[in-house]
Amino acid sequence: MPHRMTAQETDITTLAVDAIVNAANESLLGGGGVDGAIHRAAGPDLLAECRTLNGCPTGQAKMTAGYAPPALHVIHTVGPIWNGGGAGEDELLRGCYVNSMALAAEAGLKTIAFPAISTGVYRFPVPRATAIAVETVAGILRGNAAFNQVTFCTFGDEVTTAYATALDAYR
Ligand code: APR
Repeated sequence: MPHRMTAQETDITTLAVDAIVNAANESLLGGGGVDGAIHRAAGPDLLAECRTLNGCPTGQAKMTAGYAPPALHVIHTVGPIWNGGGAGEDELLRGCYVNSMALAAEAGLKTIAFPAISTGVYRFPVPRATAIAVETVAGILRGNAAFNQVTFCTFGDEVTTAYATALDAYR
């Protein structure tokens, strides 16, 4: 069975998938980076729904409707802030992918797009974050035939190259 993972360098708000994943913070009340882009694309109704969620702990995920973007849903997950690697950052980042995929599976979603969680403002090293993302998602897909496609949405050369290299190992 093909591995059903792909990488695409684009703005995640343009992807017509069942769910785009937002790299949020624990307040779920918006921010910069991909969080800012998704809230700008979705408009104030997304923030209004986020206000009802009472935040989200790091490593966990919560789902809302998608509002404006082509995506039907937004899954908000909170990645760990990089603190040198000794504070459980790897496990927390893994949790972002596990919990986001679990919410998508529960909702019967078939296509999902992830940004490179924690590799921007949260300063998680790109190679390490990419390996966690691809290995975690590959493991989930092996056990779950329900998903049609997982897209890793990249921004910039470093992340784009990192995902292309990581996915080559799954050809
Ligand atoms: N589409 C896809 N990827 C994007 C987009 C976009 N429109 N904008 C930024 N990115 C990329 C960044 O280049 C980076 O590779 O998403 C990745 C994650 O970066 P951030 O958005 O900074 O997220 P993160 O590092 O997880 O930090 C989260 O930043 O925006 C705040 O509210 C957010 O406090 C939270 C923190």
